[in-house]
Amino acid sequence: MKIKKILVLHGPNLNLLGSREPSTYGSLSLQEINARLKKIAQKQKYALLSYQSNIEGALVTKIQKWGSKVDGILINPAAYTHTSVAIRDALVAVGIPTVEVHLSNIHKRESFRRQSLISDVVEGQIVGFGPKSYELGLQALIQTIERQRA
Ligand code: DQA
Repeated sequence: MKIKKILVLHGPNLNLLGSREPSTYGSLSLQEINARLKKIAQKQKYALLSYQSNIEGALVTKIQKWGSKVDGILINPAAYTHTSVAIRDALVAVGIPTVEVHLSNIHKRESFRRQSLISDVVEGQIVGFGPKSYELGLQALIQTIERQRA
């Protein structure tokens, strides 16, 4: 059986998780979040590739490069959620199941955070549960991939 793969993408400033505004983003580091995701994925026979960048183009390149090699994408574009047509276009171009996650509930924060430029091109969005948003998002993504395969 071919092992399935998921690409997890984290946008700018998420490398600071743990010390960055813990009351908004929680106290787990990015490494801890990635480790939790890896465990969940492994149990369901998925391999996980995680990548964080503060650079928009680097995220776009990763989507382009890996889009044809993975079965799905779990993405928190962070601040680029609200600004990046380039990330949106890359996701549309690769056209594989994608789930958007946010640690905070972007819909109850400043008005500029309430708009996501990718929300209408992804399978769904999970927000507001801290690091748990990633875990719920991963589970939803795996279910989507499995459903589409059945
Ligand atoms: C975020 C929300 C964004 O508005 C913000 O710029 C982030 C993190 C979240 O996970 O809650 O960096 O994506």
